[in-house]
Amino acid sequence: MDPTPARCFVPGALWPDRAGVHINAHGGGILVDQGVYWWFGEHKVAGKAGNVAQVGVSCYASRDLYAWEDAGIALAVSDDPTSDLARGCIIERPKVIYNPRTRRFVMWFHLELKDQGYGAARVGVAVAERPAGPYRFVRSFRPNAGDWPLNVPEEQKRPLDDTERAALAAQPFTGGAFPAYPASGTFRRDAAGGQMSRDMTLFVDDDGAAYQVRAAEENGTLHIALLSDDFLGTAGPYVRVLPGRFNEGPALFKRDGRYWLIASDCTGWAPNAARSAVADSIWGPWTELGNPCEGDAQQLATTFESQSTYVLRVPGHEDAYIYLGDRWRPEDARDGRYVWLPLRFDGGRPRLRWHDRWDLSVFGR
Ligand code: GAL
Repeated sequence: MDPTPARCFVPGALWPDRAGVHINAHGGGILVDQGVYWWFGEHKVAGKAGNVAQVGVSCYASRDLYAWEDAGIALAVSDDPTSDLARGCIIERPKVIYNPRTRRFVMWFHLELKDQGYGAARVGVAVAERPAGPYRFVRSFRPNAGDWPLNVPEEQKRPLDDTERAALAAQPFTGGAFPAYPASGTFRRDAAGGQMSRDMTLFVDDDGAAYQVRAAEENGTLHIALLSDDFLGTAGPYVRVLPGRFNEGPALFKRDGRYWLIASDCTGWAPNAARSAVADSIWGPWTELGNPCEGDAQQLATTFESQSTYVLRVPGHEDAYIYLGDRWRPEDARDGRYVWLPLRFDGGRPRLRWHDRWDLSVFGR
């Protein structure tokens, strides 16, 4: 055990666990359960090989958010080449929530099938009896098959006809700022088979209802979808959020009875300027609040060289929220760093400022 565990956060630095090894939990999220923080994230090996899943989802435990114990591999890849989780698949942005009805811990993650690039755009679901797992893989799928978004006009609630389908297929998809982004085509194309789901997070509301937030529609539009009572699938209702804005790395949280979203632009592993938005209902309408970062031009343009993955509300403090971001290192994936910063609110907007080092005392008591 490390004799001098850290007592502060040092954004962007190597972050040794209690055994002195850099924490390996990228694109992560945090579950708070009975006074323990459980950090789940993508386990990555060294080099470019680490950009696909060689091991699985890792899990770390902490009581103070500074010092983390390696709790092992929560969900392992499979040696069976026919499995959805075959080694070499892509497992990204795992999130875990607890279901009090079934007394199961439920993990959702972005799954790309082996050797298919980012084409599958599925979610994977796994369950466990204990926070650290081991998690049993349940299934992978494209969510909301057969459902129509709540917030589209009635005339859009129909599949594409052959002409529309051909026109959509002929659109060159380049990602990023895509001027000809087909505002209503993609979700209609995918309605029958299920919606695309890449970057994602989970959110549990005060009433116990859980939601998936996903980058859908070729990453062009976020969807927020209600989960079924057992949290193993979607329940039907979902909304399209900020269509055509290409938000990724979504992080959803609640503060003062309102819903807040931090997200990134869509530039692969390269950092970009963050976005923020707020809504009075999780179903929207969502209002954009712009870049939450304050600092120099470089910091604003790159979100302090990071991409959002989660916002943690710290229990026991009055108004304490932490932005969790990744500083990706695609050339040596395991070396990716974590940028955790206090998320403050000022003038009705979330604000992020750089700190060389900081601790929870910034939130007061
Ligand atoms: C990013 C995304 C990451 C990962 C990466 C692959 O845009 O946020 O989770 O998928 O692309 O290039």
